[in-house]
Amino acid sequence: MIHARSALLRSATKLSGSRLLSVSTPIKLNIRHLATKADTSSLNYAKVFNPNSTNVSLNNLDTFARRHIGPTPENVEKMLESLGYKDLNDFLSQAIPQHILFKRKLKIQPQQGYTESEMLEHLYEVAGKNKIIKSFIGKGYAGTKLPPVIQRNLLESPEWYTSYTPYQPEISQGRLESLLNYQTMITSLTGLSMANASLLDEGTAAGEAMSLSYHNLKGKKSIYVIDTNLHPQTKDVIQSRAENIGVKIIELPLSTTEGVSQLKSILSDVCGALVQYPGTDGSIHNFQEIGEIVHSNKGLFAVATDLLALTLIKPPSEFGADIALGTSQRFGVPFGYGGPHAAFFSTSMKYSRKIPGRIVGVSKDRLGKPALRLALQTREQHIKREKATSNICTAQALLANISAMYAVYHGPEGLKNIAKRVYGFTSLLAKEIQTNSNHSIVNDKWFDTLTIKLSDGVSADEVLSNALKNHEINLFKVNDSTVSLQLDETVEIKHLQSLVEVFTGNKTYDTQAITSLPQLPSELLRTDQILPNEVFNTHHSETALLRYLHLLQSKDLSLANSMIALGSCTMKLNATVEMQTLSIPGFNSIHPFVPLDQAQGYKQLVDEFEKDLNDITGFDATTSMPNSGAQGEYTGLSLIRQYHKSRGEHEIRNICLIPVSAHGTNPASAAMSGLKVVPIKCKTDGSIDLIDLQEKAEKHATNLCSIMITYPSTYGLFEPGIKQAIEIVHNNGGLVYLDGANMNAQVGLTSPGDLGADVCHLNIHKTFALSHGGGGPGQAPVCVKDHLKPFLPSHHFIKTPHSTNESIKSVNSAPYGSASVIPVSYSYIKMLGADALPYVSSIAILNANYMLNRLKEHYSILFIDPKAEGKKHCAHEFILDLREFKAIGVEAIDVAKRLQDYGFHAPTMSFPVAGTLMIEPTESENLQELDRFVDSLISIKKEIDAYGRGEGLGNVLKNAPHSLEDIISTSQQDWDTRGYTREQAAYPLGFLKSSKCWPTVARLDDTYGDMNLICTCPSVEEVAGESA
Ligand SMILES: Cc1ncc(COP(=O)(O)O)c(C=O)c1O
Repeated sequence: MIHARSALLRSATKLSGSRLLSVSTPIKLNIRHLATKADTSSLNYAKVFNPNSTNVSLNNLDTFARRHIGPTPENVEKMLESLGYKDLNDFLSQAIPQHILFKRKLKIQPQQGYTESEMLEHLYEVAGKNKIIKSFIGKGYAGTKLPPVIQRNLLESPEWYTSYTPYQPEISQGRLESLLNYQTMITSLTGLSMANASLLDEGTAAGEAMSLSYHNLKGKKSIYVIDTNLHPQTKDVIQSRAENIGVKIIELPLSTTEGVSQLKSILSDVCGALVQYPGTDGSIHNFQEIGEIVHSNKGLFAVATDLLALTLIKPPSEFGADIALGTSQRFGVPFGYGGPHAAFFSTSMKYSRKIPGRIVGVSKDRLGKPALRLALQTREQHIKREKATSNICTAQALLANISAMYAVYHGPEGLKNIAKRVYGFTSLLAKEIQTNSNHSIVNDKWFDTLTIKLSDGVSADEVLSNALKNHEINLFKVNDSTVSLQLDETVEIKHLQSLVEVFTGNKTYDTQAITSLPQLPSELLRTDQILPNEVFNTHHSETALLRYLHLLQSKDLSLANSMIALGSCTMKLNATVEMQTLSIPGFNSIHPFVPLDQAQGYKQLVDEFEKDLNDITGFDATTSMPNSGAQGEYTGLSLIRQYHKSRGEHEIRNICLIPVSAHGTNPASAAMSGLKVVPIKCKTDGSIDLIDLQEKAEKHATNLCSIMITYPSTYGLFEPGIKQAIEIVHNNGGLVYLDGANMNAQVGLTSPGDLGADVCHLNIHKTFALSHGGGGPGQAPVCVKDHLKPFLPSHHFIKTPHSTNESIKSVNSAPYGSASVIPVSYSYIKMLGADALPYVSSIAILNANYMLNRLKEHYSILFIDPKAEGKKHCAHEFILDLREFKAIGVEAIDVAKRLQDYGFHAPTMSFPVAGTLMIEPTESENLQELDRFVDSLISIKKEIDAYGRGEGLGNVLKNAPHSLEDIISTSQQDWDTRGYTREQAAYPLGFLKSSKCWPTVARLDDTYGDMNLICTCPSVEEVAGESA
């Protein structure tokens, strides 16, 4: 202990000698280090795993640790024995370098964790502190009715919410089809020819439009024009993004002649413009002229729009939009205090290679059958690293699926009816205000939103307070004498009566005589058919939709089938109690901009969550705003840039060091933050090359902004040089960003703060049990040391924790990002408590090492010395090196696809090293499942050997995966040419006969799909043509 302490003091002295005077917090580190250590012994594990195992007491029995952590104490003993250890503590002290293994005792309460029923009781109590009030606030968030069949069978179904991003298309056809429906819905409603499979939210989608426009003209024109009539939070997000890449935002009233002439006067420097249709004030303007002006200068014209309005009004394509974007939240996704919900982004085909996010495309499989896949996969933004123009990785797949199913269920007529009804209610109210009050309506045209200038002597506060106190309705205050409201699908006669009373004083508004609703003026109406595809015109009864949902989910592999050992993705248990929180009305029915006294439950939740995350990461403050890991990276880097700005060094400190092993979103986020990336080499053992780091840090010392390090590294190693690396960067004036994607190896054992980093993000959709949703939602709190705290993001409408006048602007639309997923991770932490959390990481590391140990006789393990003379242990993941099999013609993809025949999702392929598979079992998998996976890989090794020997069995790898159709319908004559039996193809191991998730298509043809890009569902004519 004394030794460690003096080392810390030494590093403190060094730090204070550096340029980073105000940064260091080494004294705090000392205190932390001296605190009592966490108990991670095997003996204690038995107690923590199941406190009632030896003695049933008065305590509740529904404890959580044994439900979350797979291996029992007996399993742990056996696994340790196979590795040559007697106790978990001995193992950990060998697996993790001593000077990193802090084991600082966590302060999380309750220390022993809530039981499941206690957790639910607590959650309902917290949710009860949020007041559910009818909110017609609008501003991008509208009330909606989530059809119960979708709620129960999609949102609450683990087959949908626990699946991974569909990188393995043969076992993902269900959600790929649903995402293709989403894309088709968006293209149909916006009138543009292609759409992606969701983005994070409307503000960030607008930011993407700005950056696409800027990069489209290769950065030669640096003004981006935004209309005054955009939602304020959208403006903020664009502004914060633009500042970092040197784009100047100019706001103009583009629906006025004055605005048009101002646009013309600056046109030569304009790379694009964004308008909102309908505008934030509710008005509907035809922006054709703006489109033409922007195009005349080669700029891109973007339109933020509303899907429900578009079921009736002219699509943006009709006035020349190149990009249409917005949120699909009002298609069935509850408010959730701001998220999650899916943003959409559509363009013309011309920009197919520039569109951010993922695109689902139609291709064919090995047998020529139509099949879906992520199109242009190699184009994915984060694979372009620092050349990327976007850092989108995790998006909002689950929510996109909900919105797509909402459209499938209602169909075009149902959606139009919802829209007509909303318009009707809005117009009835407008008429009452216009005829029976002295207020005036500011927008002369509307769909669902009215902006009301109040008559002299009436204040907005009075109106808002009257609506709230007497009618339990929230409205929006535009300024002291103007209010606005947005009606939605949930509006009822009683609300109309209340609103009429609020604005006219009439308490007896009678709707009895109203037999038909007002209709939109014909000049606003679209004349084309929407959603003509078969899928939107078929599943309108609950029976039909239920079966469609089940059909799709049965095509997909999720955690409900088998382990998903995706390295760097931490596919652990998403416990039902945790996920249930998404359906608690007190959490999901709150509009993000309600007065704070209506969101006291959220306040308590966010504050406590922050406290726990600070404790776990060893940091001082946290923002919950970023809604994906990459968004967290961007936020963290922006904070660092703002820190340098506060010291007058913003311009000069523009270099970010990034080890070559980093996840692609790291350099992409650095580029988005306006930083130049300087790669740092890694040594042959996978660790950071400290000599290269030292050289480059010194060389760029004057310009050094930061380093981004993933720890344990993306090679799955606790490299011992981490503290030196951090010190080198600090000594050269840079700050240290720690990518917390691998936090699952650290909780309670070590932490970014203890290691000396300045900031980290946490992918709560990994370590903290939020499900991956088939590609989102995610949420990435960013935790910082004190010196970065003043810069934590602010929000236009809501005072976010720690915001100051030095804060960076919002990084996404809502103050707490996807706030309604926070209870998931909150309950994960609270059910495990301070005692069990360190075992999560300990068992995750043990599980990985157990598998590694069994596999090392059959495969080479990258960076691990098979004779155990050098590096003996991995962290929580390890890399199977398959490159040696290339010589005999077997590739990593063959092994990945063959694993599907064994009922498993492939591990992460070719990241961070091409030709490898990275395996991360997590703590949630039990010994039987680990063994099943290992047995499968050992069996595949025999098939690889057979291939090497030229035996027929080896061909099983090249034809993998084998779909049911392949097994059943291939003629015997064709089959006989293969050299292996149908049984060997389908049931290579005995367990598969009783339980197997079948691939529904054979191996996808990637090249065909990219060369023949189709990103929407077939039309009715095409379907008819195919079946003729
Ligand atoms: C190491 C690492 N960093 C960052 C990210 C990006 O996170 P997200 O996908 O939530 O944007 C990932 C995602 O896989 C990752 O593995």
